[in-house]
Amino acid sequence: MNTKIQIGVLISGGGSNLQAIIDAVNGGHLDGQIVFVGSDAPGAGGLDRARRNGIATFVVDYKSIIRDFKKDPRKALLPDDVDLGDIIAKQTLFSDQDDPQRVRPFMMSRVLAEARLLEAIGSHSFDLLVLAGFMRNLTPYFIDRINSDRTSPRIMNIHPALLPSFPGVDGYGDTFRYGCKVAGCTVHFIDYGEDTGPIIAQRAFPIEAGDSLESIRQKGLALEWELYPHCIQLFAQGRIKVVRKEFDLGKGGKVFRRIVEIG
Ligand code: GRF
Repeated sequence: MNTKIQIGVLISGGGSNLQAIIDAVNGGHLDGQIVFVGSDAPGAGGLDRARRNGIATFVVDYKSIIRDFKKDPRKALLPDDVDLGDIIAKQTLFSDQDDPQRVRPFMMSRVLAEARLLEAIGSHSFDLLVLAGFMRNLTPYFIDRINSDRTSPRIMNIHPALLPSFPGVDGYGDTFRYGCKVAGCTVHFIDYGEDTGPIIAQRAFPIEAGDSLESIRQKGLALEWELYPHCIQLFAQGRIKVVRKEFDLGKGGKVFRRIVEIG
C-alpha cells in the first residue's frame, strides 16, 4: 500500500472535479487524503461537497478583497515579505507591453488575497495543492511559497482544452467556436503564466457533427473526472518528474522547456 499523500484543493464553483477526487479516495483508487477545500467564492457549491465528506473548508473572498483594495489602494497593507518588483518581473500573466498602471494594482490586490490564502492553508500540512475549477490566477508570491523546492512543483491544475491551445476561462467554448475537430483537457503544473506550466497528461475526443457546446462540455468533463484522479495518483506514487530539456532549433538556435516525465 503506497503512503497516503495529503491533498489540499482550491475551487471556485460546483466542484465536479473535487467530487471525482473524493470518489477516487473513497473508492481506494487514490493513495491520498483531502485535508482541506478552500474557495475564493463564499457560495461555491463544491464547499457543500466537502462538508458532506467531513473535509475542512475555508473561504477567502477575493471579490471583497479586490473591491476594498480598489476603493482605496493607498490603504492596502501588503505583507512585509512582499517584493512587488520581483513578483512583477517573474510573472508572465502580463507582457512588458501591458500598462504598468494596470499590472501593478492587479498584482497588489492578488497578493493581498494570496496572503489570506496562505494564512488559511498554513494550518494544514499537505503534499499537493490541486486547483479544481479554481478561477483565479496565482502570482509568484503565492507560487514560490508553495513550491518551496523549485525543481519539484506541487500545484496542479486542470484545464478544459488541449494546451497550449485555448488558455483562459473558456477552453471548451474557444475550441467549439474555432471549429476544431478535436477537443480535450489538460492536467499541468502551475507556473508563472496562465495555463502555461509543464503538462502532465491530456485526453482528447472527437467533435462530432451533432455536437453542441453543451455536449462537448459534458464529454470533456467526463474525461476530466477520470484524468485528474489518475494524475494525482501518479504524483502519490512518486512517478512524476519535471526535467529541463533543451531543444535544438537548428542554425544554432536552442529552446528549453520543463517537461514532465512519468516513471
Ligand atoms: C472544469 O471544466 C475545469 O476544467 C475548469 O473548471 C471547470 C469546472 O470545474 N478548470 P468543476 O466542475 O468546478 O470541477
